[in-house]
Amino acid sequence: MAYIEFEPKYRTYTIMDREHQQLISIINRFFDDWVSNKGVKPLPYLIELAEYGQHHFDSEERFMENNQSSNIEDHKNIHKKLMERIVGLIQRVQNGEEITMETFQFLQHWLMNHVAGTDVSSYGILGDKNRK
Ligand SMILES: [Fe+2]
Ligand SMILES: [Fe+2]
Repeated sequence: MAYIEFEPKYRTYTIMDREHQQLISIINRFFDDWVSNKGVKPLPYLIELAEYGQHHFDSEERFMENNQSSNIEDHKNIHKKLMERIVGLIQRVQNGEEITMETFQFLQHWLMNHVAGTDVSSYGILGDKNRK
């Protein structure tokens, strides 16, 4: 079973769902590798997550601007703080911090609280028309 499942509460019903699933799949690949291989190299996964995360945040902000969503500035600030947190984790791992179950809990919270909270509520109206 995947470490993070794409549950209904994570759905925004917009094209952003695909990018969220892509971010989840990076964490899941990292987790699977960590479980089956204790010699796993964490930095490539964390860097991939930070790079794709930045790409996603940029595309989400463009998407919100194109759809004239409200609270774009607040949302941008939250994205900035999320990037600082993942960069902070990368630095700690570079300085020798071990990967543990807490690392994965951190990554899950880092991404999914934002998706289920801010993203879903920001896109509520945009996504509603796609809801079945
Ligand atoms: Fe998002
Ligand atoms: Fe977001």
